[in-house]
Amino acid sequence: MATGLDVGTMNILSSEQDGSETVFIQQRNSFVEIEYSDMAEQMLSRSDVLHIRKDDQVYVVGDDALSFANIFNKETRRPMQQGILSSDEQSAIPMMKLIIEQVVGDPEYPGERLYFSSPADPMDSDLSTLYHQKTLESFLLDIGYDAEPINEGMAVIYSELADNSFTGLGISFGAGMTNVCLSYYAVPVMKFSVARGGDWVDEQASQATGTPVDKVTTIKEDDFNLDFETDIGGVEGALSIYYENLLDYVIEMLVQEVDQEDVEENLDVPVVVTGGTASPDGFERLFRDHVEDAGIPFDISSVTHADEPLYSVTRGALVAARSDEDERESDEQQREAETAEATED
Ligand SMILES: Nc1ncnc2c1ncn2[C@@H]1O[C@H](COP(=O)(O)OP(=O)(O)OP(=O)(O)O)[C@@H](O)[C@H]1O
Ligand SMILES: [Mg+2]
Repeated sequence: MATGLDVGTMNILSSEQDGSETVFIQQRNSFVEIEYSDMAEQMLSRSDVLHIRKDDQVYVVGDDALSFANIFNKETRRPMQQGILSSDEQSAIPMMKLIIEQVVGDPEYPGERLYFSSPADPMDSDLSTLYHQKTLESFLLDIGYDAEPINEGMAVIYSELADNSFTGLGISFGAGMTNVCLSYYAVPVMKFSVARGGDWVDEQASQATGTPVDKVTTIKEDDFNLDFETDIGGVEGALSIYYENLLDYVIEMLVQEVDQEDVEENLDVPVVVTGGTASPDGFERLFRDHVEDAGIPFDISSVTHADEPLYSVTRGALVAARSDEDERESDEQQREAETAEATED
């Protein structure tokens, strides 16, 4: 058995293979702090709500945080911001630890292989991903996994571009970040992130229209699409403007990075867009139109959209973990065969 794990600013998802099926476990990367009371006690005891009690406070963690926040009239908080552990949130580490323990469960045997996604250092901010990455690694080690980070963009290549010899450009449009990776026969030749994603779109549209940010997120996730010209003035109009702005920004960074890294100009590669922010209808077409106009110095053969954008990264991490485990097994078999041969001699 091997495990894949996508640690995202909004969603944490594990994956494992069970016969021909991949099994996913998902939690929101969010929590709410409420005061301990009889009502809280009753609600907590009725179900398998993920929570920690600390003196007279209770932290409800993961998917249930939002409903508890609504009932107790509190705000949810997020352990991660812009793709990495939040430095503003004192409780980030214990909350993330609890969510991760819940989604990955115990390893099937000590040292089970697990790959977890980690973002590339962002081009447009001073944030470093090292502390985040090392902290996650130590959580997973404590649980008993043999954990290894995988770049989020590379995970997209593993899950979506296997049929193209793991060659192409993978882009994960998440909540806190956008991660980009160009891979040539499974070798990453360029990877970077930008510290903007769905959260940025929501915050901008909220500020522009004076609408609370949670409301904007709900409108965006419910029935917003990029296929039509929406009326300027409303939340949907603002969302369209900032969506387009995000795409242009990512493409501009891509052009800059291709230039800096001296990427081979004779390439002709497919692009796959994925991540929750790539979900609205019309996203793929909008990206295709904008990238065509951008003057990228190599050819793009196609732009496609992942079938299940929320699962791409965890699926790719699972592909990496399984292939690693297969390699270890065959190494071991070879060693055993050699030992047997030596004993016979
Ligand atoms: N149907 C939808 N339409 C538009 N946006 C959506 C939809 N579903 C989810 N999103 C947005 O996608 C984002 C979450 O996507 P995803 O789970 O890929 O991010 P993440 O991996 O948690 O974050 P990151 O990779 O940046 O750390 C959020 O901004 C969310 O609002
Ligand atoms: Mg992500």
